Amino acid sequence: MKAEDIRRAGVVGAGTMGNGIAHVLALAGIATHLVDVDDAALEQGIATIRKNLERQVARQAVAEAEAEAALARVESSTSLEDLAGSQIVVEAAPERADIKARIFEELSGILDPGTLLASNTSSIAITGLASHVAHPERVIGMHFMNPVPVMRLVEVIRGLETSDGTTALVMELSRRLGKTPVEVSDYPGFVSNRVLMPMINEAIFCLMEGVATPEAIDTVMKLGMNHPMGPLALADLIGLDTCLHICEVLHAELGDDKYRPCPLLRKYVAAGRLGRKTGRGFYEYGDG
Ligand code: CAA
Repeated sequence: MKAEDIRRAGVVGAGTMGNGIAHVLALAGIATHLVDVDDAALEQGIATIRKNLERQVARQAVAEAEAEAALARVESSTSLEDLAGSQIVVEAAPERADIKARIFEELSGILDPGTLLASNTSSIAITGLASHVAHPERVIGMHFMNPVPVMRLVEVIRGLETSDGTTALVMELSRRLGKTPVEVSDYPGFVSNRVLMPMINEAIFCLMEGVATPEAIDTVMKLGMNHPMGPLALADLIGLDTCLHICEVLHAELGDDKYRPCPLLRKYVAAGRLGRKTGRGFYEYGDG
């Protein structure tokens, strides 16, 4: 199979990353089936795809007819069984190894042995996920960045058993989606979060130690290093629970205290201040 032959894809999880992945697959002409555990999550996911497509139309990045056709290519349901017949399934479920393992196990029983199985995980080992699947050579990491329709990178992660054919196909598919794929090995945090999370964690230490206000920390990094957003605003975009989880994976699996999560990050997560998705993180956000 070649990337251009892919006509049917599945996405598991309609949250921020899942709906973004469905968005770019559908926009590339691929019939995409989105699965989540309840109808409310699916409705919210589809509404977000619609809103983001409208934004692209308003900015003249996408023609109106193209956006309408893309939206029409997205179907949804609450059953993984409906993914039978997909040529690739991208899993974007919550970042918990037990949840992802269960989904992979189930998909292994539903999909043809040749169906590619990609995970959008930001820190869970691909090799471990692949061990729950018959034919682990078709399992790979396809790590998109948030917001998916805008960010150009796909970090392509090869597990221990991932075949050359699977890797080549997913690299090619990423290009078909208008992205630039970069191949990396399966190692804690891969490259993206191995480098990004220590920076975000250090910014939180600066805040906790009273070095500067959130606005000052972010302004230093925006104006001084030309980052599009400061590390604290970026943590709010990613979700503080996700940041904490990734820091914990780096700390536990690399075994070096330089990765220890900042206590202030733990405190915010314990308080439910998870960033944009809860309306409050290092900054406050309105209802939208
Ligand atoms: N869907 C579609 N288009 C979107 C969008 C979305 N969700 N969000 C923004 N856009 C588009 C806008 O329409 C606009 O398009 P044009 O350039 O064509 O005009 C463009 O993106 C810029 O948007 P805005 O003008 O509204 O805002 P901005 O200039 O402040 O950019 C941003 C917003 C793209 C989010 C920018 O601040 C940015 O790049 N931030 C850093 C994001 C980042 O680092 N992401 C990676 C996070 S790490 C991760 O995801 C992986 C992990 O494992 C944790």
